[in-house]
Amino acid sequence: MNHPALTSVELGGLRLPNRLAVAPMTRVSATPEGVPTPEMADYYAGFARGGFGLVITEGTYTDTVFSQGYFNQPGLTLPEHVAGWRPVTAAVHAEGATMIAQLMHAGALSQGSHYRSNTAGPSALRPGGVQMPEYGGGGTWPVPKEMTEEDIAEAVQGFVTSAKNARAAGFDGVEIHGANGYLLDQFLTDYTNQRADGYGGPIDNRVRLASEVVAAVRAEVGPEFGVGIRLSQTKVNDFTYRWPGGAKDAEIIFTRLAEAGATYLHVASEGRDWIETARLDGGRTLTALAREVTGLPVIANGNMHNLEQASRVIAEGHADLLSIGRGALANPDLPRRLAAGAELDAFDPAILHPMANLANARQWARG
Ligand SMILES: Cc1cc2nc3c(=O)[nH]c(=O)nc-3n(C[C@H](O)[C@H](O)[C@H](O)COP(=O)(O)O)c2cc1C
Repeated sequence: MNHPALTSVELGGLRLPNRLAVAPMTRVSATPEGVPTPEMADYYAGFARGGFGLVITEGTYTDTVFSQGYFNQPGLTLPEHVAGWRPVTAAVHAEGATMIAQLMHAGALSQGSHYRSNTAGPSALRPGGVQMPEYGGGGTWPVPKEMTEEDIAEAVQGFVTSAKNARAAGFDGVEIHGANGYLLDQFLTDYTNQRADGYGGPIDNRVRLASEVVAAVRAEVGPEFGVGIRLSQTKVNDFTYRWPGGAKDAEIIFTRLAEAGATYLHVASEGRDWIETARLDGGRTLTALAREVTGLPVIANGNMHNLEQASRVIAEGHADLLSIGRGALANPDLPRRLAAGAELDAFDPAILHPMANLANARQWARG
């Protein structure tokens, strides 16, 4: 089939055979110490075998202080994490795909950590909503401690170290998780960031931590290694939030991150279809705006297993690549099916319930 997502594309120095990426998806299947397992290597290699040009990992924690979000989340901060990821990147490369590590600091939305029993965020405010049972949590979130300048510097250093580790583990690039309500998004969001210092207040200040992380990582890994950033308006605990200044805020955010040295922007659409979260006044879209403002490649997300929408997004210039989450779980061979004109299987939420881990998926596959 002649689908526009099946043409090759360049992503910050990486040449990809198609425009289809596996979206980052937390699977809470590492060891309690955060070491990836052989089962995870099989899982990730399955998407590469199915034709995805790019595989982005689940959110991977960046330090042994406050970054871990869930029990059994993989890390990229200790030598044993690096050793555990090596066979995973090798398995994905052997199937011909490129692999990027998503680097994540959970901040106030941490619901399980091997290292700490308390949490940290921009301000000492209890997050809205409740913890996610499919990742092993339950009940309301704890009130985080307000991060000091030292805490912030330590968090930035965690991203730097884990980016260096990602390269040592064989990844082709990193993606900074600035989306979905986690630490960098907590700083970006007006109601979770009530700081009175240079990290709080107007949007220029609220985007500062995300841009400092991108700049620090870029300085560490040099110009050849991909450093993307994922952003979103909606959050795992708030599907309705929109950047208060609309397109004006978006321009500031995208510009600052591009200036900091990002090689691509990934606009996530947590809990909603792409068009719902990307729509701007006057028929424009957030993803197209990101392309215009920065000239960088942009990945769009949100129900892209709707192949008609996927086609429109690429053909009409709203984005350069598409990331697919639930559709990839249902169809790890989605690109091959698309090329063959074969039907896609519908996503069955039971694959992630009661737990979003690989053991649950194995059970589900057995029927
Ligand atoms: C099981 C599961 C785990 C997820 N974990 C992450 C994650 O670790 N990092 C992230 O940025 N987004 C995560 N997401 C969000 C997805 O990347 C994606 O944005 C969302 O599922 C919408 O895309 P879709 O409509 O293609 O599923 C997760 C989604 C699912 C379903």
